[in-house]
Amino acid sequence: MRRIEFHNRVRELKEIMKILDVEPSLITFVYGPINSGKTTLVSHLIEGLPEEYVVFYINLRGRFISDYRDFIKVLFKIEREKNYKEVLKTISEISAETLKFSGIPVAESVMNALFKEKSYEDVFEFLEEYFTTIAKNKRPVLIIDELQVVGDLKIDGLLMYKLFNFFIRLTKELHLCHIFAVSSDSLFIENVYSEAMLDGRCRYLLVDDFDQETAAALLEGHGFTDDETAVAWEYCGGKPVCLVEMIYADNREQIAKDMLKTRITQLKDLLDYLDYTKPRITIGEDEYAVEKEDVIGIIGRFADVKCINDEGLNRPAKYFLIKDNLLFLDPAQGTIKPQSRLNLLALREVLRR
Ligand SMILES: Nc1ncnc2c1ncn2[C@@H]1O[C@H](COP(=O)(O)OP(=O)(O)O)[C@@H](O)[C@H]1O
Ligand SMILES: [Mg+2]
Repeated sequence: MRRIEFHNRVRELKEIMKILDVEPSLITFVYGPINSGKTTLVSHLIEGLPEEYVVFYINLRGRFISDYRDFIKVLFKIEREKNYKEVLKTISEISAETLKFSGIPVAESVMNALFKEKSYEDVFEFLEEYFTTIAKNKRPVLIIDELQVVGDLKIDGLLMYKLFNFFIRLTKELHLCHIFAVSSDSLFIENVYSEAMLDGRCRYLLVDDFDQETAAALLEGHGFTDDETAVAWEYCGGKPVCLVEMIYADNREQIAKDMLKTRITQLKDLLDYLDYTKPRITIGEDEYAVEKEDVIGIIGRFADVKCINDEGLNRPAKYFLIKDNLLFLDPAQGTIKPQSRLNLLALREVLRR
């Protein structure tokens, strides 16, 4: 089976290592357009971390969480035949290998106790003690991927606020555990960005598509001619997932054209749909109808630029386009751009018709 090796991300990895090198004091939000390589970067990072780190990686993608029990299930993983003390002992004393866990390992008895408690305060108290024990010998790192999955979840109040409070406690107050929250959902990141309780308590790390030089280096390594590299950049830009698809393809130019054709069809269909219905978008407490002309108005802004300022745009139409993964909002830079080069080309093509 062919597999493409991890490519570059030198700057991002350096930045993360700099964060990991000092005691935890801020929550790190890793964000970027969809399929830009956030999960791949984090997985690569975990593989290469020195032994002093104990990593807990939890990916909420595709996980269904509707109540307290579901939440406990995604957070923890039962470590059979070990009691709580033994699990902690294992984690804090083993030094032969780097410790990486998907889910936080606990004994079955602990899991059962957590199920019974039904209070977040108890869970967070337990976790605080857990990380304190680990931190005596090691440096715990907690990574939650696709955190927006629990973004709107209300279980006994908004779960997100409790989680943020807990993260602040582990970083800013106790300096106990590094926290990385990863998300492709830019509306979620925008909420985080404007959340007063996080002000001065977090930092943002953008993992964007590759720049032209980095993309070209990847393709060169896979035997692309200059012409093929030019086609790849024209259609895929620096979107890793798209470049990988081209690397595997027999007819590279054809696959690029096919990908664009698909995107154009999807976009035309979306605009056609707006002729018949006005989707509703909730902003604050109120619902607003999305007007097709406002959507076209925003799309039209990309006729000759790749990126626009996130100001003065019709909000329901903007949120609709972001929710639909056509546009990516970068709240830290106050800009909006298509999620991918393919999306940009499709937008322009549809505008021309
Ligand atoms: N640094 C990289 N080197 C090689 N391939 C990559 C890299 N980053 C991403 N990819 C490719 O792009 C795909 C999508 O990346 P992923 O990490 O899932 O994106 P995200 O988590 O940002 O949505 C991966 O499955 C992989 O094939
Ligand atoms: Mg991901």
